Amino acid sequence: MHQVPEKAFANMCVITYIIMVNKINKDNKMIHDFIVKRKSIRAFDSEKIDDEKIYSLFEAARLAPSSLNEQPWRFIFAEKSDDAPFEKILSILADANKVWAKNASLLVIVLSKKDLDRNQKPNKHYFYDAASAVANLTFQANSLDLYVNQMGGFDSAKVQELFNVPEEYEPVVVLAIGAEGDVNSLPDPYKERESLPQKRIALNKILFSNNFDEPHSLLLKNFQHEEIVI
Ligand SMILES: Cc1cc2nc3c(=O)[nH]c(=O)nc-3n(C[C@H](O)[C@H](O)[C@H](O)COP(=O)(O)O)c2cc1C
Repeated sequence: MHQVPEKAFANMCVITYIIMVNKINKDNKMIHDFIVKRKSIRAFDSEKIDDEKIYSLFEAARLAPSSLNEQPWRFIFAEKSDDAPFEKILSILADANKVWAKNASLLVIVLSKKDLDRNQKPNKHYFYDAASAVANLTFQANSLDLYVNQMGGFDSAKVQELFNVPEEYEPVVVLAIGAEGDVNSLPDPYKERESLPQKRIALNKILFSNNFDEPHSLLLKNFQHEEIVI
């Protein structure tokens, strides 16, 4: 009988695996609901979020880990009902983001302190730490049936100027937060974009062993991939 060489067989397994994992498996019971549920929505419903819930978002952010426990994150936020402060944050967004972010219940500017409090030397991890805080905030939001869309499309210099941000802080990202609204309220092409599947790079492209680019043997194991939902 013709034998498939071991290496060719391994490659076949990897290829099969790539095909299986290219789309997000939303039915994977191993992944926590809050992670599975998370998505960057653009159709918000503008409802006021209870103060207690808003408070819990920032409390969750505050509990994030940070290098040397420096906690470099800072937040400026406004509720939609705040009118002028909300419009002020909206004004720093790229036009493509303004279109839908105007319907969020909450807009948050995330900033991070560039230097260490302890010795004023550069904090190599200031951006990384702010992202950890945003991740905590995001999953807390998901646990409350709220969604977060992070935006890199904003004018950093304008934030600095309009909000009197000291030089040592850098704007990192702006967050639009709220409950999911009606997709049909969005203009095209935003409406179509909402129904596109969430896609991810296959695990074998990002998970290595021994050397960079050498897929980890974990990927050759026979995982259960029940139904693949996109
Ligand atoms: C740092 C960062 C910046 C982003 N900037 C924008 C943005 O300016 N506008 C936008 O509509 N989405 C933005 N996104 C959302 C991404 O497009 C989204 O996370 C990605 O397409 C994956 O989709 P998902 O979050 O629904 O899984 C940003 C996300 C991150 C993490």
